[in-house]
Amino acid sequence: MQDNITPILEASLNAISKSQNLAELKEVEVKYLGRSGQITELLKSLKDLSPEEKRTTGQAIQNLKNDFSNSYQPKFQQLQKAEIDAKLTSEFFDLTLSEINPSRSLDKGTIHPLSQLQQEIEQTFSEMGFEIADGPEVESEYYNFEALNVPAHHPARDMQDTFFIDHPKDPKQGHLLLRTQTSPVQIRSMEKYGTPLRLIIPGRVFRYEATDATHDSTFNQVEGLLIDKNIGLAHFKGIMTEFLSRFFQHEITTRFRPGYFPFVEPGIELDILWKKGQNGQPDKWMECMGAGMVHPNVLKAGGLDPDVHQGWAFGFGLTRLAMLKYGIDDIRNLHANDLRFLKQF
Ligand code: DAH
Repeated sequence: MQDNITPILEASLNAISKSQNLAELKEVEVKYLGRSGQITELLKSLKDLSPEEKRTTGQAIQNLKNDFSNSYQPKFQQLQKAEIDAKLTSEFFDLTLSEINPSRSLDKGTIHPLSQLQQEIEQTFSEMGFEIADGPEVESEYYNFEALNVPAHHPARDMQDTFFIDHPKDPKQGHLLLRTQTSPVQIRSMEKYGTPLRLIIPGRVFRYEATDATHDSTFNQVEGLLIDKNIGLAHFKGIMTEFLSRFFQHEITTRFRPGYFPFVEPGIELDILWKKGQNGQPDKWMECMGAGMVHPNVLKAGGLDPDVHQGWAFGFGLTRLAMLKYGIDDIRNLHANDLRFLKQF
């Protein structure tokens, strides 16, 4: 067996040095060290030898392996470097053709239409003395319903189909859920800041609803809350008419209709007169938002005394107003992230 070793060593070193590229070198490795490679076979046959032969032959095979590897490694590195160098010269990458070339215009991103409108709305209300508040999207049943005068089993809970979160129920706060409205931040703000309050609360809300052109399970609302002494709905009408005129960039006519929302009393719906313009269609009243005087139970839940303080609140769908303003006919465009749509704004 010892006799086999020298020819195998010579042949293998010869094969290594003759390899022209990594693929050929790999073949040599397989031929000698693969599962049934010649060196591997030598090792396997050791088991048939006497202990004394095992020692000497084993040592000789080990030397053979070392010699193999000592010439394999540098060859491998040499061929690998040659292949990389060849790639670098053949696949030349012309940086001056890329986007960073100053003579080519950069493709800039744009701010999402909903974010743009939200920023504009925050600007308008800030100028009228309002502050911007925020609250959690994962809410408790208490803040989303209970504190807003919607106790358990109240039919008004069905007005807003809810995503509940799989989490143990808290004895005081109830289940966790994805907020269905921005109204819970009314209570959180009363608790946190006391009076007087002038706030708008923009945010995302969630409803367990099938999606179609006018419904989405996620949309954006803007809540408003003003609490002070001697407050009435005349303030509200003035402020909203001003806001809506700025939002739509022309003078807007508004009207109130009675409406029911558990957290306000009286509750109203505010409509705007939508002018169809030249194409002969009649003007149309469009439902725009819910509002009303904050219900005494809600003031109490926020830690305020309804005999001392009053206020009004409103909530509208930013998504809906955006669709109206821009004539967007499918709500799903607003979350599809299609650049052809987004770049129009
Ligand atoms: N939270 C109501 C909804 O999502 C909207 C709303 C109506 C908010 C009346 C208010 C309000 O603050 O006073 O449908």
